[in-house]
Amino acid sequence: MAEGDHRRIIPVDPAALAKAAAERVLARIAANGGRVAICLTGGSSPKQLYQLLATEPYRSQIPWDRVHWFIGDERFVPAGDPLNNMGMARQAFLDQCAPASNVHPIPTDTASPEDPDKSAELYEHALKSFYGADELDPAHPLFDLVLMGVGPDGHTASLFPGYPALDDIHRWVVGVPKANVEPFVPRITLTLHALASCREMLFQISGSGKRAILTRVLAGENLPASRAQSINETIWLVDQAALPENFGG
Ligand code: 6PG
Repeated sequence: MAEGDHRRIIPVDPAALAKAAAERVLARIAANGGRVAICLTGGSSPKQLYQLLATEPYRSQIPWDRVHWFIGDERFVPAGDPLNNMGMARQAFLDQCAPASNVHPIPTDTASPEDPDKSAELYEHALKSFYGADELDPAHPLFDLVLMGVGPDGHTASLFPGYPALDDIHRWVVGVPKANVEPFVPRITLTLHALASCREMLFQISGSGKRAILTRVLAGENLPASRAQSINETIWLVDQAALPENFGG
């Protein structure tokens, strides 16, 4: 493992993956007695986790009034569109459980139809005002927990391979005019710099379809998903089907 690489890979049983992630969510909330900030992710991988959080024994263990929910990337579609990432999270658990004022979606409806940069600007402003400063201080991470997934090309959030904003250490949120994978709509994404400002970054990886990209990430290839790391703890929950055959051997 390279110096500065704090990544911990935890193999889990496929049936236990969402539960293991839910336990990490509860642990991060329990570790902070004040206002908690959690950054959610889109895609299909976290859906089961979100549904679990709305059910017992998890639901009653979450102090909903002091947990704030953000989203790490968004598809540039209206809030009610089935492709909207925060829309999926709302439907799966937030609308049933969280006070509306604690849900912080990326505003896609208010922006000019061709311009995800305007949405990015508005969300960066919202994050900075929640955080209370314009510069990220490593002693005070922006998020308690950042959830992440990996795409087949090695993207994470909506940071696609080769996109110049990967190296941006100033902006917190950027517009992405063109997606590398479906759905081919523009995106808005937090930068690696903003996502790293957390107590824990948690990836959920499942299914044999993820094995090829996980092999490349673990081999140290320069991909957005390889570069996405918390300034504190980074955990990859990986089910057996996604785990490369030679892992640990
Ligand atoms: C999105 C996501 C994206 C996702 C990965 C994995 O908007 O699509 O935020 O980064 O996490 O593509 O997606 P799956 O979980 O569907 O494989």
